[in-house]
Amino acid sequence: MKAAVRDWVRAARRIVVLSGAGMSAESGVPTFRDAQTGLWAKFRPEQLATEEAFRADPGMVWDWYQLRREMIGKVVPNAGHLAVAAFQQRHPGRLAVVTQNVDGLHQRAGSAGVLALHGNIAEDRWLDRPRACCTRASLEPGRPPRCAVCGNLRRPAVVWFGEMLPPAQLAAAQDAAAACDLMLVVGTSGVVYPAAGLARSTRGRVAIVNPEETELDDAADAVLRGTSASLLPYLLED
Ligand code: OAD
Repeated sequence: MKAAVRDWVRAARRIVVLSGAGMSAESGVPTFRDAQTGLWAKFRPEQLATEEAFRADPGMVWDWYQLRREMIGKVVPNAGHLAVAAFQQRHPGRLAVVTQNVDGLHQRAGSAGVLALHGNIAEDRWLDRPRACCTRASLEPGRPPRCAVCGNLRRPAVVWFGEMLPPAQLAAAQDAAAACDLMLVVGTSGVVYPAAGLARSTRGRVAIVNPEETELDDAADAVLRGTSASLLPYLLED
């Protein structure tokens, strides 16, 4: 099956890689739904990754994100991210990356035009709609930083539960899914929509790369049970 999927890659004019947390697992970033250690075991992301949780205890949620930022700052892209980026460089315009990951590892590997559906953990934005006073000059450091004039808080620029995905990124991802001949669904459990819906909406072939069963297996033309860092270099070699 592995060889068949590699042939599909070679024949495809347009490829989408739809990635999830498992893509970064071999870089040392914990996934969401596997057994976790430390903070990840104590808190479910669903409990902290909401606007309600942030408004209730901004310091605690901010600190939790700072820990994740520190952890992500220490890891590096793995062979899976690098294989995707190298393919894009060899074949400009042929492969689009759509990711649910906020860790920026695809971008750091050198992938261009990454559609980061759930935002980027390295960036912040204003919690409430910025007022005229909310500028860089008024920013007061803290946990979280705030506008010294009106008190508006900074928050991580990630999509929290119950929030809309960035509309332009989602539309571009839907267009890429509609236009592709092949979608490689890598390292995602396929339980979170609308991202998972991209694999169901494409008319192209769907191949899954995941060591475990996923909710999208039934939508796949091929299921490869293996890890992204071990399979992607093989699938994406010329
Ligand atoms: P999950 O934690 O739900 O799933 C991770 C998937 O990666 C599982 O299917 C694992 O079997 C698989 N996996 C683990 N190691 C792997 C490896 N080395 N290679 C390939 N696959 C591997 O993560 P996501 O599906 O990304 O949303 O979760 C989707 C969204 O739910 C996240 O973006 C996040 C979360 O709540 C937001 O933050 C909005």
